Amino acid sequence: MGFKEQIDINRLPEHIAIIMDGNGRWAKNQGKFRVFGHESGVLSVKDIVEGCVDIGIKYLTVYAFSTENWNRPIEEVNALMELLISTINEQADTLNKNNVRLNAIGDLKSLPQKCIDDLASVMEKTGKNTKCTLTLALSYSAKWEILEAAKKLAQQVKDAELSIEDIDEEKFASHLTTTNIPDPELMIRTSGEHRVSNFLLWQMAYTELYFTETLWPDFRREDLFEAIVDYQKRERRFGKISEQLN
Ligand code: FPP
Repeated sequence: MGFKEQIDINRLPEHIAIIMDGNGRWAKNQGKFRVFGHESGVLSVKDIVEGCVDIGIKYLTVYAFSTENWNRPIEEVNALMELLISTINEQADTLNKNNVRLNAIGDLKSLPQKCIDDLASVMEKTGKNTKCTLTLALSYSAKWEILEAAKKLAQQVKDAELSIEDIDEEKFASHLTTTNIPDPELMIRTSGEHRVSNFLLWQMAYTELYFTETLWPDFRREDLFEAIVDYQKRERRFGKISEQLN
């Protein structure tokens, strides 16, 4: 029996987040340039989005470019930006066909202008789709996001629009870039690295973490289904004891 058949569709995670890692090593293993790994990684993104649509995952968030990735060699940064632009434009019709809404989180204004414009355009074109929300984390880091939220709240307190007593988890989360998106129940990281690397730190407080040795360009929907089967075997206690769960 394949992994898809083992999935209980009544207990699917609503939101899956992925750290797509290992593109560079995958390319190097084949004696190719790193960019070839990123290009091949796009094929994985497409397959995983279709896999999510296929089984009914409502939210998929992928870490496409971190704040720290700006420190890579300029040629690689430029290639990633060009790949991003070409991919979102090429995929706009497919996203619509699959009823997928494109969304982006991160310090988007730091991206090249063409990237900002094309993202806005494809987000607008796919904005009414309802089956799945694909969020690209771009120029994103969780510490950046949490600081931004703290600054906005501080400004509201300073302007006497908000009292300190009214700052609770819900209020704080409403200033994060993921407002209106549920927290991920499952986070997958490929390539054997066991880190969360500044990704969705607030939102992942209770997320189940799944690590696989598979490099991102080799990761396909069957690997996603395997991760979901593993997730469904876990007991999520949220600080309670087993006997309190029904
Ligand atoms: C990590 O692998 C991957 C990235 C930093 C970029 C991810 C980007 C893509 C998959 C393509 C663009 C995505 C979209 C959504 C259009 P790495 O380079 O850190 O690999 P390494 O650890 O082996 O060096």
